[in-house]
Amino acid sequence: MPAPRTQRTQVGIVGAGPAGLLLAHLLQRAGIDSIIVEDRSRDYVEGRIRAGVLEQGSVDILVEAGLGERLQREGLVHDGVEIRFAGAGHRIDFPRLTGGRRITVYGQHEVVKDMIAARLASGAPLHFEVADVGLYDLESDRPAIRYVRAGEKSGVDCDFIAGCDGFHGISRASIPPDRLTAYERVYPFGWLGILAESQPASAELIYTHHERGFALLSMRSPTLSRLYLQCDPADDIDHWPDARIWDELQSRTALAAGDFRIPEGPILQKGITPMHSFVVEPMQHGRLFLAGDAAHIVPPTGAKGMNLAIADVRCLAAALVAFYRTGATGALEAYSRRCLRRVWQVQRFSWWMTTMLHRHSDESPFDRRRQLAELDYLTSSDAAMRSLAENYVGLPLE
Ligand code: APR
Ligand code: PHB
Repeated sequence: MPAPRTQRTQVGIVGAGPAGLLLAHLLQRAGIDSIIVEDRSRDYVEGRIRAGVLEQGSVDILVEAGLGERLQREGLVHDGVEIRFAGAGHRIDFPRLTGGRRITVYGQHEVVKDMIAARLASGAPLHFEVADVGLYDLESDRPAIRYVRAGEKSGVDCDFIAGCDGFHGISRASIPPDRLTAYERVYPFGWLGILAESQPASAELIYTHHERGFALLSMRSPTLSRLYLQCDPADDIDHWPDARIWDELQSRTALAAGDFRIPEGPILQKGITPMHSFVVEPMQHGRLFLAGDAAHIVPPTGAKGMNLAIADVRCLAAALVAFYRTGATGALEAYSRRCLRRVWQVQRFSWWMTTMLHRHSDESPFDRRRQLAELDYLTSSDAAMRSLAENYVGLPLE
């Protein structure tokens, strides 16, 4: 192979998920150059179905950054969620409990499509399908990304690298293990998720606690439902024919009054995902900064993954802008500490929602009663509802 062709940029970004794409966009608006390298194809990244709830603060960031046009047109603004247990539903009213804050239901892959379109329209570099990505000289002031693109060795010399390549990426793995501490919890259950061509059962999300396990009814549009069931993480999706999925969803969400039924329809996609809490500290090594899933994973019960990625990137973009405007490094040095405060608050909330709503295989009759008492307290105390609501719509951004 010929010698690598080396380019130069200010910030090299690994990964074109919500974290990498939003960072590139915020930097570009401040006149800072970046190059994004992504190992998957554009079609793959745009078609990957993920979560779909945006906190009010995340929507505000996207709108302020000029990325909100389709989001504001097609996103579904929700004023609450329902918590269902013991055959009855209880609504949590967000605006009433949080001084007017709400959430927006809009698929992560739609956010990604909007950001890719904006990036490509600007002509700034975004390289899909690169291979063998490696990071070098992270402790110097000229770190580099090397990769293979269209069969040719290539590379970017940078001032900084942003590791936005998700949980399985190479950025976190490029940091010497003795410089990092990892905190982890693996849950003994997973979620079986489906996307169905059917009318959502309700105008708002329904989180259900049931003897047979947790279920969640969400949506993507007035004709597209996104539904989840607690299952064994090692289960095989082939054991779940469509009829079994619908029967299980119907049983777990039934109301004692008998007047609730989920409209069924063709299932377009289905899959099983494990549940995991993970944090690595610090979120920085030399001139490499980790953001989003590269640094932390939350179980999906609190709908926080994408929002946390957006919050990290807002903080990183502000720190880089401060550096390029004034040469000040204080905000870059504070990046990890500032992000981790929110990360741990969100970890706590996601763990709490998960623990409260799922069946645990090792639970005792006492644990079961305590769980039901917690749900009873949550749905009958304004203070408890407010605590859920303020976390769900998003804690204030620093
Ligand atoms: N080189 C280049 N790109 C890579 C590499 C690599 N070695 N490894 C992974 N990637 C890409 C992935 O293909 C993906 O497109 O990095 C991107 C990471 O994106 P996400 O996984 O979406 O992570 P992030 O941007 O942090 O967004 C977090 O994603 O998983 C959900 O629940 C999570 O909603 C949260 C959001
Ligand atoms: C989704 O719509 O995909 C969704 C909603 C809420 C969650 C998780 C996922 O808690």
